[in-house]
Amino acid sequence: MSCTAFSRRFLVWLALVLVLRVVLGGEDGLKSTHMITMTKSHSFPKFSTSINPRIEHDIKLLGSAKLSNDKQSIQIPDISESDDLRHQAGRAIYSSPIRVFDPNSQTPASFETTFSFQLNNHTSPLPSNSTSEEAHGGSGLTFLIAPDEFTVGRPGPWLGMLNDACNDNYKFIAVEFDTRQNPEYGDPNDNHIGINLGSIVSKSTINASDYGLSFEDGSIHLARITYDGSTQRMEIWVESNPKTPLRSVFSDDIDLTPFLNEYMFVGFSASTGNKTQIHNILSWNFTFTTPAFLRYPTSETCDSKILVGKNRVSENNKLPIKKERSSTPFLIFICVVVLCFLIFINLYFNGKKAKKSYVGSAFMFMPEKKLRPTPPNKARRFTRSELSLATRGFSDLEVIGSDSSGVLYRGTLPNGCHVAVKRFLSQFLGSLSMDRRKFLKRVVSLSRVRHPSLVPIRGWCYETRVYMVVYEYMFNGCVDKWLFGVGVLPWSRRFKVIKNVANGLSHLHSRQIAHNNVQVSSVFLDVSFKAVLGDFGLSDPFGIDSTSSRSVDVFNFGILVLEVVSGRKRWVAEKLETDSRGSSSSQSELAMDEMDLLDYAWIMHERGEKIKMVDRLMGSIVDTNQALRVIDIALLCTLPENNGRPKMEEIVTFLTMDCILPELPPNRPIVLFPYNSGPHLCGGYVCAPFG
Ligand SMILES: *[C@@H]1O[C@H](CO)[C@@H](O)[C@H](O)[C@H]1NC(C)=O
Ligand SMILES: *[C@@H]1O[C@H](CO)[C@@H](O)[C@H](O)[C@H]1NC(C)=O
Ligand SMILES: *[C@@H]1O[C@H](CO)[C@@H](O)[C@H](O)[C@H]1NC(C)=O
Ligand SMILES: *[C@@H]1O[C@H](CO)[C@@H](O)[C@H](O)[C@H]1NC(C)=O
Ligand SMILES: *[C@@H]1O[C@H](CO)[C@@H](O)[C@H](O)[C@H]1NC(C)=O
Repeated sequence: MSCTAFSRRFLVWLALVLVLRVVLGGEDGLKSTHMITMTKSHSFPKFSTSINPRIEHDIKLLGSAKLSNDKQSIQIPDISESDDLRHQAGRAIYSSPIRVFDPNSQTPASFETTFSFQLNNHTSPLPSNSTSEEAHGGSGLTFLIAPDEFTVGRPGPWLGMLNDACNDNYKFIAVEFDTRQNPEYGDPNDNHIGINLGSIVSKSTINASDYGLSFEDGSIHLARITYDGSTQRMEIWVESNPKTPLRSVFSDDIDLTPFLNEYMFVGFSASTGNKTQIHNILSWNFTFTTPAFLRYPTSETCDSKILVGKNRVSENNKLPIKKERSSTPFLIFICVVVLCFLIFINLYFNGKKAKKSYVGSAFMFMPEKKLRPTPPNKARRFTRSELSLATRGFSDLEVIGSDSSGVLYRGTLPNGCHVAVKRFLSQFLGSLSMDRRKFLKRVVSLSRVRHPSLVPIRGWCYETRVYMVVYEYMFNGCVDKWLFGVGVLPWSRRFKVIKNVANGLSHLHSRQIAHNNVQVSSVFLDVSFKAVLGDFGLSDPFGIDSTSSRSVDVFNFGILVLEVVSGRKRWVAEKLETDSRGSSSSQSELAMDEMDLLDYAWIMHERGEKIKMVDRLMGSIVDTNQALRVIDIALLCTLPENNGRPKMEEIVTFLTMDCILPELPPNRPIVLFPYNSGPHLCGGYVCAPFG
């Protein structure tokens, strides 16, 4: 629903309510129904996608976590991903934000949640030297209320609760079921419950052994946590014997207010450290109730508040009920007249503006902007000065990357969150004939797509000849530093990078959206070294999001895969330098460093020597069959658009399953453009300037 439509509907509704109030008895009616309660509840009797496919939408998995159909549970860590379950962290959260705090009355939500969990030993052989006996038992599970839907905390004793991101401002609440003793964080033993408020050190701990509970004994534990927002009392019940009623293990007053935002995400996190175990959550239900203040305009609203800024509005909101007493039916009458007038003006202006601006000034006449909750992390518009402040005046010290389209800066917002700001060059924008409307349309549609392998967009900025996109900051930077830099990225990591990028891109394409800038420098590594695709292209010559654009993405994905496998860039940057170095290699042998990587790949394919593509720096610890298969997939991506080039979703299947790949032609097809039709533009086999 657009803002305009919303404000119009809202105002009409408001007027109706007011008129009714006046007719039905004025002031008394106005006073009685200001407070309402908002309730959100959900129940998951089982976590089985075959019984309830919606679970995949309702539960968002982050880090090493999966839905296990065998056990009908959420499993952290994800045992299918790797044999080595040590030092893994994962989260599973309810995918929509939940209102956990009423800022108006400063009241935390009252909630009740019940879940059953089971901690299992990992049975497959451990790669480590340690015997399985001593490797079991860590690190623990938490029920978590977290401020965002993207962060995964650190593994080990952090239990996936915390990481270095947004350090100072990271509000969270967790109830931990900890099976490892970390004396440095004040753990009493290796079998305890702790209440963590914004900190890794628990505020209170409970020795579970005192209640005859052992979280590691393999039985199913049932836990219930309740909180009363008005009395600020928290209670925790746990039981492992299904026949006996839940036992209260904790009951105390705790003020959660400093650790709550209005909207937060609710779920579980768990981790393993040196020792491992599999954390299963078998069932879960929750109910959150918050008071909400339905803000009908008061007489002052009508007189003076409507056109003032939102700061004064919220200041005055705290006392409206008392002030109404002085209002008279006459004031209400005035109020209705003023409102009708405003509605009239509003309709008039909106009618004129609707076609012109996307996110217009429709809020101007909305007295209570916050009536409808805005979810956190929603992309918003930033001003140039905000972003200038965040990036210290676009300082050179904050540059984390640049390409022909613009420069990427690191920045810190006033709330402590780290962001990456892409500032597009004006020459680049000129060549695209980009305008504000196209820019907004693209950014808004991109920011609606959420996927763990896509960098979330936090906002945008457009001012005279300045266009910027604000992304969430990825702590391990761009993958090209790891790939072409000093260190050597091991094969297993490279394969994961390829899989992550394929998943992200496939999700984007499933929404009919093209990325338009697929290259190694658009791939970043998050805190847990998962690859996420960002730095979206703004526009392209085929019209945004056309099938051809997606097909170009696939072509460029193929190039990206070749670069990741071979550990070098496609084009030779310094021809002279390689010439002088190349003297050592024999004349007849083709030197990979001196050719276009795609040419080289096809030549090696024709000669049946594809294995020479694989980055030698990795030595012998490469899964050769997997690497060859990946090179084949890359070459498939570079086939002509209407002659064998697969779709992203097919590539995802090729990468995950042992299905037979489509046959590659024995020789290189003649046309190897990223696209087959249209003007010959930059991006593929030949490179001509933009027309
Ligand atoms: C493996 O464990 C044995 C004893 O269990 C120990 O003597 C040996 O040093 C360990 N090896 C490594 C590589 O840690
Ligand atoms: C926890 O409780 C058990 C059983 O009551 C007791 O043996 C143990 O000493 C307690 N641990 C701590 C740290 O109080
Ligand atoms: C898991 O391993 C630990 C340590 O070896 C052991 O105490 C515990 O009983 C095991 N749990 C299960 C369910 O087998
Ligand atoms: C993990 O084990 C190693 C060697 O046993 C030890 O040095 C290290 O401190 C341990 N790490 C944690 C987080 O316990
Ligand atoms: C959640 O489930 C428990 C046990 O199954 C039940 O007692 C409780 O009433 C449920 N709570 C909600 C809010 O649905």
